[in-house]
Amino acid sequence: MILSPSLLSANFGKLDEECQALEQAGVPWLHLDVIDGLFAPNITFGTPVIASLRKTSRLFFDVHLMIQNPSRYVEDFARAGADMLVVHAEAETHLQRCLARIRELGCLAGVALNPSTDCSFLRWIVHDVDMVLLMSVNPGFSGQKFLPVVEDKIREVRSLLDAHGGSTIPIQVDGGVCPENIGQLVRCGADVFVSGSAFFRFPPYDQRLAAFAAAADQGPLRAAAMTCSHWKPRQA
Ligand code: DX5
Ligand code: ZN
Repeated sequence: MILSPSLLSANFGKLDEECQALEQAGVPWLHLDVIDGLFAPNITFGTPVIASLRKTSRLFFDVHLMIQNPSRYVEDFARAGADMLVVHAEAETHLQRCLARIRELGCLAGVALNPSTDCSFLRWIVHDVDMVLLMSVNPGFSGQKFLPVVEDKIREVRSLLDAHGGSTIPIQVDGGVCPENIGQLVRCGADVFVSGSAFFRFPPYDQRLAAFAAAADQGPLRAAAMTCSHWKPRQA
């Protein structure tokens, strides 16, 4: 499993130090929640904050764009230092074109689905995505309660991807994930886990990461897409 702590629950007064602490704790990814107050009810941060963190951090920047018409901004976020750009299917009319553009920009391309969004459309973009993000809360805020119906959705998306040539595409779950439910989510077929409140509220970070990893029971990892040709890991 890959843990991607959400910066939304970090101390905004010292984001740089938070990133360094995560890196030292052995956390692999950082989940950056960009919200525009239109697609979802909250306004968080944008490219200047990401570009500034990029100067000192080598974490994998997993940027979750909860913004309306994200194709308007993918160039800017790629330039700011995103490694992966995840766009919401509900927010983008020309989703395939947007995903292809993200890859052209040298980033991994992810697609996110709100809890109530049906997943059958994934069949038609299976060769355009590097990750599927399933929201397990309605987007906007950290600290919300996990919606259990998403467990069935993980199973359904996993079999849909496997049946259509996407068996290496990882599924990310975002919202209300904690050590108490991560084991079950791994068993359903999820690979990458976002955690905001359940991670940052319980320092030290290395021990919290270990608690998530132990509870996840090291399930199967479908991260092959992370080594694809259009994205290169950052050099030390
Ligand atoms: C919600 C965000 C999530 C959120 C997760 O809109 O996409 O990434 O920060 O926070 P927790 O883990 O507290 O639900
Ligand atoms: Zn998120």
